[in-house]
Amino acid sequence: IVAGIDSSTTRTRIVACDAETGAVLRDGKAPHPLPEGADARGTEVDPQTWLHSLGEAATGGLLEGVTAIGVSAQQHGLIGLDAGGVLVRPALLWNDPRSAGAAASLIDALGGPAPWVEAIGSVPSPTYTIAKLRWLAEFEPVSAKRIAEVLLPHDWLVWQLLGHPRRRTTDRGDASGTGYWSPVTGEYRQDLIKLALGHELHVPDVLGPAEAAGHTPEGLLISAGTGDNMAAALGLGLRPGDAVVSLGGNGTIFAVHEQAVVDVTGAVSSFADATGRHLPMAGTLNAAQVLRSTAAMLGCDLEALSDLALQSSPGSYGLVMLPYLDGERTPKLPHAAGTLTGLRAESMGPQHLARAAVEGMLCNVAEALDVLRTHGVPVGRVFLLGAVGRLPAVREVARQLFGVPVLIPPPGAHAARGAARQAAWALAGTPEPPEWELPEVVVLTPDPDQDLPIGNAVRQQFKAVREQIHPETA
Ligand code: XUL
Repeated sequence: IVAGIDSSTTRTRIVACDAETGAVLRDGKAPHPLPEGADARGTEVDPQTWLHSLGEAATGGLLEGVTAIGVSAQQHGLIGLDAGGVLVRPALLWNDPRSAGAAASLIDALGGPAPWVEAIGSVPSPTYTIAKLRWLAEFEPVSAKRIAEVLLPHDWLVWQLLGHPRRRTTDRGDASGTGYWSPVTGEYRQDLIKLALGHELHVPDVLGPAEAAGHTPEGLLISAGTGDNMAAALGLGLRPGDAVVSLGGNGTIFAVHEQAVVDVTGAVSSFADATGRHLPMAGTLNAAQVLRSTAAMLGCDLEALSDLALQSSPGSYGLVMLPYLDGERTPKLPHAAGTLTGLRAESMGPQHLARAAVEGMLCNVAEALDVLRTHGVPVGRVFLLGAVGRLPAVREVARQLFGVPVLIPPPGAHAARGAARQAAWALAGTPEPPEWELPEVVVLTPDPDQDLPIGNAVRQQFKAVREQIHPETA
């Protein structure tokens, strides 16, 4: 039996799986208590709260008979240790908006986006660890000076589980979200750390996909661990040609690819995956939230919004929503607002507004998938994740717009299961991860005569409005 832990921004999940088949035998979860007061946005936390939740999630004999554990966690978080291995300040998390200015000034400091792409494969966004280093150097210089080593959330958890060994480790996937390790060359860039922080750092060893980080005092093997998106890809059994569209508050779009993608526009983050390949990722800022706000405006819930949308027809009678409610990242329109256009007597109905919201959100995501394709990433199937992906209207429109089969896995702990699969891999020591049974997916295959022409027409209508309102995206 192997176990996988996923320590996300909001909670810890643990699954215990059969090491050979991957069948989930037991699972547990516990929320991460939200910090209070000044840090109430939840972007700064004491890492001990993760350990505490891990303990809670593992109660009831969940780890009985387990011989190996894998750890997945939220990417990018900065945990600064001093020269004695003592935590310098609470962790700064990926979703901390304060590092936006720091990311911009770092890009300038190196001479623009191109040298960054050259150095680490990506243009650092505010989520990247290096932007947080820069923020610390600027706003908390005393803490910044004390930091001698930086761990990511999964690195820190592995180190805790192992009983604080001298050697600290990370993996390719999580390292590629720091902004100072290149998935293209496999090397750290101390010069960039110095540019951000003012001095160099000790850095954790980057383990290969099937390497063990070590053994706990009780003799359990701990595998390398990885970032949550990389772990989800492993849990879903993604192969080159497979993409994921995850519709949370934001849209997360990634695919497994043999080569590193380098995108000078910054739209694609060049991440490594957890199998020795790559995981290029694009993000949209507007996903499930678009449907939630539209439902609120219509005075209904998401299920009713979906029913309404199905009463309209493809193209929503000409009603088009550009869903840039929070500005947008892909396409790069940080200061944009949303647009609703095409109001005519026949399109003035709640059903058309509901469908325009679903189509707008998914056209935007389909355009982000196309950004991956323009970098040579094949997208032959799309795994649709997130609660709104279960709405019938979202399924119908996704099948029409994405142009490839859409697979809907059951809701589940994909990242935790991926971490468990990594642990089984480290136990087996084989060149490829163990073949685990894939979760049972619903497959929506687009009808080439019906769905594809409809999808093209809806996307054309969206694109025409986008280019008219935001000519810089044309
Ligand atoms: C990816 C990212 C998020 C976190 C969430 O770049 O920042 O998906 O990994 O936990």
